Amino acid sequence: MAMLTTERYISTHKHRFLDELKHFLRIPSISTSKEYAEDMRKAAAFVKEKILEAGADQARLIETVGYPLVYGETVVDKDLPTVLVYGHYDVQPAEPYELWNTPPFEPVIKEDKIYARGASDDKGQVYMHIKALETLLATQQLPCNVKFLIEGEEESGSQGLTQFLQDKENHALLQADVVLVSDTTLISLAQPSLTIGLRGIVYLEVEVTGPNRDLHSGAYGGAVGNPIHLLCQMMASLHDEHRRITIPGFYDRVEILSQQERDVIAQTPFSLSEYQESLGIAAVLGEQGYSTLERIGIRPSLDINGIWGGYTGEGGKTVLPSKAYAKLSMRLVPHQDSATIVQQFTDYLSTMAPESVKVNVKVVHAGSNAVVINKDSVVLQAAEKAFEEVWDQRPLRTRDGGSIPIVSKLQESLGCDSVLMGFGLDSDAVHSPNEHFGLTNFFKGMETVMAFYQYLTTSHVS
Ligand code: BES
Ligand code: MN
Ligand code: MN
Repeated sequence: MAMLTTERYISTHKHRFLDELKHFLRIPSISTSKEYAEDMRKAAAFVKEKILEAGADQARLIETVGYPLVYGETVVDKDLPTVLVYGHYDVQPAEPYELWNTPPFEPVIKEDKIYARGASDDKGQVYMHIKALETLLATQQLPCNVKFLIEGEEESGSQGLTQFLQDKENHALLQADVVLVSDTTLISLAQPSLTIGLRGIVYLEVEVTGPNRDLHSGAYGGAVGNPIHLLCQMMASLHDEHRRITIPGFYDRVEILSQQERDVIAQTPFSLSEYQESLGIAAVLGEQGYSTLERIGIRPSLDINGIWGGYTGEGGKTVLPSKAYAKLSMRLVPHQDSATIVQQFTDYLSTMAPESVKVNVKVVHAGSNAVVINKDSVVLQAAEKAFEEVWDQRPLRTRDGGSIPIVSKLQESLGCDSVLMGFGLDSDAVHSPNEHFGLTNFFKGMETVMAFYQYLTTSHVS
C-alpha cells in the first residue's frame, strides 16, 4: 500500500486543525494578570492533550514557581538528531477591547486569516508545530526526535522557566541538537527570512518619593520638590540631542558592526515611506547615524512604557504628589549584559536625583541578553534549505528588535544552537487589537518545519 503523503493528510484534516486552533484561541491565557490563573492552567492542559493526541510518547506539565511548563517528547531513535521546540501558550492582554472588530477571544476566519489574541504570538505558531508532529507521525515520516517545551510566562518575563534552567539537573531532559523557535516574523510572504538576532531586554519600574503625603499645591507649591517634575526631568535626560542613551557606560560593550554587515541590512527590502504611512507618522525618530532597520536590529534602545502619579481623575485636585512612577524597558544588543545595565541605570538615577526626593528602581522582569545565531551552523543551513524547498526562495537573514527572553538562556544552558524560524508578519498586529495570523503562514509554516526536520536529519553527522 502506498504511504499516505503529508500533503494528503493535511488536506484531509485541515478543517479540524483550524477548529482545534480556534479552541486554543478561546482560552484567555493572559499571564500578566492573576485574574486569568485558571485559564492559564486550561491552556497548559490543552497543549499537553494535543501533544499526546498528536501521538507523542509522552507529555506532561512541569510545575514551576509561576505557570506550568508543558513538556512532551517523541523519540524515534536515540542516534538521530533531537529538536527542542520552544514556544509560549500565554498571550498579551487584549485591551482596548473597543478597538477589536470581533472579540479577541472569539476567533474568526476572514479572508484567509484567523483573528484572535495570540493567533500569531504565539498560539498559532505553537499549534503549527503540534500539527506538523501529528502529520509526520500519522504518515510514519518523522525523521528525528522531537521534544516540546511550551511555557506560560514568555510575555511576563519567563520567571518559572528561568528558575527551572538554573537547576542543572533539568538540563538533561531538554538536551537537544537544536532549539527551534517559531515566535518571530518573516519579511513578507514573497520574501521569507530567518531571524539571526534578537534584542535582549531589561524591564524596570522607577518610583520617586518626595514629601511623606500628597500636599496642597497652594500651601506648598514652589517650596517642595514635585516628584512628577523631577521624574520627568530624569526620564527626559536619558537621551541626548542625538537620541543616544546617556547612561554612563551603556554603550561600552555594544557590538560594532562591520560595513559589510551594515550593507547586508541595507539590502533588506524596506520602504521608509510605507513604514511611516502604516504607523500614521510623518517622520521617524531615532539615534543619529543609523537607518531604521539598524535602530531596531543592531542598536540598543530605551522606552518609557508608562508614567503616572498625582491626580488624573475627573475635574481638578490641587495636589503636589508624594510619589511618581514610570515603567521602562531597554532593548539590548550583543555583548551588553542585562545585570550590568540594570546597575548602571540605577547608579545613574541616584546621581541624577536631587536631594529633595528618593529614587527606587525595581526590576519587573528578569533581564535577558541579546540572541546571536551562529551564522555557520549546520542547523541554520538546514533551515535555509527547508525554506528554499517550500518557498522557492532563499530566505534572507534578519535581526529582529523584539525579545524572547529565554532563548539566550536556553542556548547557554543546553550549549546548542537555535533556529528562529518564525512565520508571522509585521502586519499581524501582535500585542495590538485585531491580531491575526495568515492561514498560508500556518500551512506553509507546517511544511517548512517538516522539511527542516528532514534536512536536519540528512545533514546530521553523529
Ligand atoms: N514574539 C515576541 C517577540 C518578538 C516580536 C520577536 C516580534 C521578534 C519580532 C514575544 O512574544 C514578545 O512579545 N516578547 C516580549 C518579551 C517581554 C515581555 C519580556 C517583548 O519583546 O516585549
Ligand atoms: Mn511571542
Ligand atoms: Mn509577544
